[in-house]
Amino acid sequence: MPAIEATGLTKIFGRKPQRGVRMLAEGADRERLRREGLTAAVIDATFDVKPGEIFVVMGLSGSGKSTLIRMINGLLEPTDGTLRIDGDDVTHLSAARLREMRRNKVSMVFQHFALLPHRTVGENAAYALQLRGVNKADREKAGEEALGMVGLGGWGGHMPSELSGGMRQRVGLARALAAGTDIMLMDEAFSALDPLIRKEMQDQLLELQSELGKTILFITHDLNEAMRLGERIAMMRDGRIVQVGSAEEILNEPANDYVSQFVADVDRTRVLTAGAVMERPVAVVGPNTGPKAAHRLMREHQTQALLVVSNDRQVRGVVYEEDIAEAVRDGSEKLPLRDGEGIARVSPDDFLADLFQHAAATRAPLAVVNETGALVGIIPRVTLLSALTPPSLDEPGDSGAEAALETTAGGTR
Ligand SMILES: Nc1ncnc2c1ncn2[C@@H]1O[C@H](COP(=O)(O)OP(=O)(O)O)[C@@H](O)[C@H]1O
Ligand SMILES: [Mg+2]
Repeated sequence: MPAIEATGLTKIFGRKPQRGVRMLAEGADRERLRREGLTAAVIDATFDVKPGEIFVVMGLSGSGKSTLIRMINGLLEPTDGTLRIDGDDVTHLSAARLREMRRNKVSMVFQHFALLPHRTVGENAAYALQLRGVNKADREKAGEEALGMVGLGGWGGHMPSELSGGMRQRVGLARALAAGTDIMLMDEAFSALDPLIRKEMQDQLLELQSELGKTILFITHDLNEAMRLGERIAMMRDGRIVQVGSAEEILNEPANDYVSQFVADVDRTRVLTAGAVMERPVAVVGPNTGPKAAHRLMREHQTQALLVVSNDRQVRGVVYEEDIAEAVRDGSEKLPLRDGEGIARVSPDDFLADLFQHAAATRAPLAVVNETGALVGIIPRVTLLSALTPPSLDEPGDSGAEAALETTAGGTR
């Protein structure tokens, strides 16, 4: 069951919002509504967020991100569509039920986190628990624990004025953690921070996420942040979600020109991982393979080097074309293994940016290995290079190439 499920979610601001819904259904665009004094802030948003996922909503200023998140946390009532949290329909809750839902299910971190200036950092962190009526001792314990998780252990007794901007934002995160809800909503939570501190906070969020497994809906207007954090990303434009997908999908299969222009400047090497571009390790040989069989495999796969892999998938070495050719000429029975030399082992999670130094140091394909050192994929050098080039929407596909061939054939007929 999704943690959050939005179906046709729509929010229209103005005096007669339902009229806006009808106009949209009849095909009117946003501009047309605007002329009637209606702002279609979110239009027909359909998506779900899985439990334990970081789902990022990405879009330029004014695209409807905050309105969307405010409907999810119950600050705004949807004009149309349905919203479910943990399977419960929360689209039109009474004020009392809404408060209860907000308190128990979702917590929110804002861009400018308002700390209560006359309360200690610890009290600020545990504030949600105070609203819930938790006693002081338990509150302090939970507050101190949450501060520890965000790297502010021991700061509980200080006052907010003693903290830097980055530290205050951490208190905001601690407050959401102390609240103990499964769902965290973050609206541009890191956008006001300096780049370096922002990067630290992103790392920390990823770390917390892997420890705690919260469901996080994270909003940003920064594409790089979206790609770093999001398991899936929803791209919003003018109130509509134009694409939902992983960073790789959005980079490699942009849904339209808008998305492809948006991602054109992204440093792909810092988004794509070894796991995303690796190939099935078919061009590998066992240690007992003979030189002739290895040579044949090399020609089949048009490669100059083969990884030698034992039965338990451990990489034992590499054999090169020239050594193999010599062994075949000499009638040798043994693979001319170059022990350990020239093998680059990388993790599926490594970014391409970190692979180039390895690729430069060896002619062999990179060996992608898991935690136990077992081979899970290989990355030939050509694959690494071609992964750098974004797909072009204008590029003719296979059908285009066929059409070109047909034209040529027609010409000679
Ligand atoms: N309370 C409101 N009343 C009227 N219009 C609003 C209100 N809140 C947001 N809007 C409008 O809705 C659109 C989307 O705004 P918002 O959701 O804040 O976008 P974002 O967070 O992506 O910058 C904007 O045109 C904004 O002016
Ligand atoms: Mg906003």
